[in-house]
Order: sequence, then structure tokens, then C-alpha cells
Amino acid sequence: MSVRVGIIGCGGISHFHVRGYKEAGAEIVCVADSNKDRARNLSRELNCEWTTDYRKLLENSRIECVSICTPNYLHREQAEAALAAEKHVLCEKTMTTTLEDAAALVEAVRRSRLIFQVGYMKRFVPAVQKAKELLPRLGKLLSGVVRVHHPMSRDGLESAGGDFWLLNPSKGGGGVLVHSGSHMLDLMRFLVGDPVAVDARTHFYKGIIDYYDTAYFQMTDGFTMFFESGWLDLPNLGVRHNGWDERIELTGEDGRLELFTMWWTRPDIEEPFVRFYCADDRTFYEYHPEIKDCFVEEVKAFVDAVKEGRPASPDVCDGFMVQAMIDAIYKSGAEGRRVEIERLQL
Ligand SMILES: NC(=O)c1ccc[n+]([C@@H]2O[C@H](COP(=O)([O-])OP(=O)(O)OC[C@H]3O[C@@H](n4cnc5c(N)ncnc54)[C@H](O)[C@@H]3O)[C@@H](O)[C@H]2O)c1
Repeated sequence: MSVRVGIIGCGGISHFHVRGYKEAGAEIVCVADSNKDRARNLSRELNCEWTTDYRKLLENSRIECVSICTPNYLHREQAEAALAAEKHVLCEKTMTTTLEDAAALVEAVRRSRLIFQVGYMKRFVPAVQKAKELLPRLGKLLSGVVRVHHPMSRDGLESAGGDFWLLNPSKGGGGVLVHSGSHMLDLMRFLVGDPVAVDARTHFYKGIIDYYDTAYFQMTDGFTMFFESGWLDLPNLGVRHNGWDERIELTGEDGRLELFTMWWTRPDIEEPFVRFYCADDRTFYEYHPEIKDCFVEEVKAFVDAVKEGRPASPDVCDGFMVQAMIDAIYKSGAEGRRVEIERLQL
């Protein structure tokens, strides 16, 4: 029998979730959006119920699980309500806007024993999984670089602090670090584990929103990772010269790995790939795995977890740890000192 789903928030990202649920053979029972037109339009497209009150959607006993696709500041409240209504949750990133909210959600998920997945879908990119597979061949790690340069016009930055939630840190939780950097912080953890501490510098546009952040992470195994996230108006950046430069470079005693990911709206078009420089044979290899839409893979993994009643990944603890890294970067930047990264108490 197909899994029955509700979608909360019918904006940009919801369409990527819809694509995933369709591929997974799930039934979308109802959609909710505080904006009536958006809810109604998506429901027409899907031939399903709609409401402007997400609590009504949660009262529907046919619905087993929900996607939370609303602005970040609403995630905690809506996820807690969904768990209280006994729905499994796929929550968009970032999981919350504060570490306190993230800790509260960890507790709520643990109490509920329901399945909770957080929307760091880049883990499902085949090139990322290839990089993870190649990692042991690097030997002892010496250093790493994580770069996230995304396009942002001056006009975009000028609107910071206004009505658009994404550019208003009180609703989004931050600037480039949150919206662009968080995915790569998650991938960094996925590949090389949790950092111990960070020394960061943050740069704010007119004191409103961070548009450039740099951070040195001290890792558990004694190596350092340099991280930078920036919104730039440089349209030719990156391996594809389209203004999007997202990469992870890792250097070890036995080799070096470079991972290039894709523009987030083009997961089915742009080809992420990995380069591996091998010290043994002194040559290099380039891997171009089959292109797969990571949003579809993410949603399919969630639906499978629900069907099989097993934990999902990335989970609420992963959402917490990314929030902890974001929190530590902002704190270190504000105080101009090294800051320890908060850990989850198990
Ligand atoms: N995984 C990714 O790469 C990725 C990419 C884009 C966005 N996102 C995340 O997805 C989420 C939504 O982003 P978006 O780009 O779709 O934003 P959006 O502004 O396009 O859509 C958000 C929708 O939520 C609705 N909404 C606002 N308040 C609501 C409420 N109280 N109840 C119900 N609906 C409400 C809005 O009317 C709007 O339709 C954010 O968390 C964002 O960070 C993730």
C-alpha cells in the first residue's frame, strides 16, 4: 500500500518533494499553505485536499507522514505539532533557526519514536557517495577545504531585513552560512566527522545579514578544515563558470580528493563529480557517476524508512549538529575567538 503524505508549505521547494513522492509511489492526501492561492494551486495540480491551516492537515488521520517546506523559523513549531499528531516528518533545512530549538526537536523526536529526516539532500548525490567510498584511500588526513560561493546580486542584498523571509535573519536564522553553507557543513560532517572547535570571521552586509564567512575547524583527528561561504556577484565562478562554486577538497598522506557538487535547482542536469589523485601510482582518476536527482533520492529514502519502520538519515541529530556548527561560527565571529562546538548529550 502506498504511503500517505501531507505537505506543509507549497512554495519553491515543495515541488521538489512532490517529484520525489510521485517517484516513490506515495499518495499526497493534502497540502497546506497560509497563502490560499498557493495551497489551492498545488492541490489542483495533485488532485488532493488543501487547507490554509496546517493543523487541520495534521488532524487528518489518513496522513502518515509530512514534509515541512515552510520558512526556517516555523520548522520547530510545525515539526513538534506533527510529531504530537503522530506523523513521521521530513523537515527542510535548516532544521531550526536556533540551537535551543534544535535541542528541543531532538527531545521531541526521541520521545515520539517517530521517523524524522532532515532535508540535507546532497548526501544522496552519487558523487558524494563516491567521495565517501574513496576516503579511506587518502590515508591519514592532513587538511581540507570546503567552499560555497553562490550568486547574489547587490539588489538582493539591498533587500536584506525586509519581507522576504530568506533575506531576513529573524526568519531565516542567518545569511549565506545558513542558506548556502549549511548543506556543505553537513557534507563535511558526512565525510570527515564532527569538528571539535572553530575560529571564524563573519562579514555582514550593512550589519543585517552575513554575506561572507570564513572558519577554521579543528577536527577530532588533529587536522584542520578551512570553510568559506560567500554570496558573490561574480557570474563566471566555479567549474561550470555559472557563478556556482561548491567544492570539498581533502588532502591525505596517500592522496587528494576533490568533490564538485551542483547548482541546487539542477540536480537532474548538472553532473557532480570527483577527482582522486593517488600517491601510489602518481596518477589521477575522475569519477562521473550516473546523474540522479538527489531530491527524489532523499524523498524515496524517507518513504522507504516509513514503510520499513526504520530510522532515517540524515536525522534529527544531524540537523542539530549542523545547527551547532552554524551557532559556533556566528559566536566565534561575534566574539573574535575560538569556540568549542556544542555536542549532543546522548
Ligand atoms: N534543500 C534545499 O536545497 C532547499 C532549497 C530551497 C529551500 N529549502 C528550504 O525549504 C524551505 C522553504 O523554502 P522555499 O524556498 O520553498 O520558500 P518559499 O517562500 O518559496 O515557500 C514557503 C511557503 O511556506 C508558506 N508558509 C509561510 N508560513 C506558513 C504557515 N504558517 N503555514 C503554512 N505555510 C506557510 C508560504 O506561503 C510559502 O508558500 C526552507 O526551509 C528552505 O530553507 C531547501
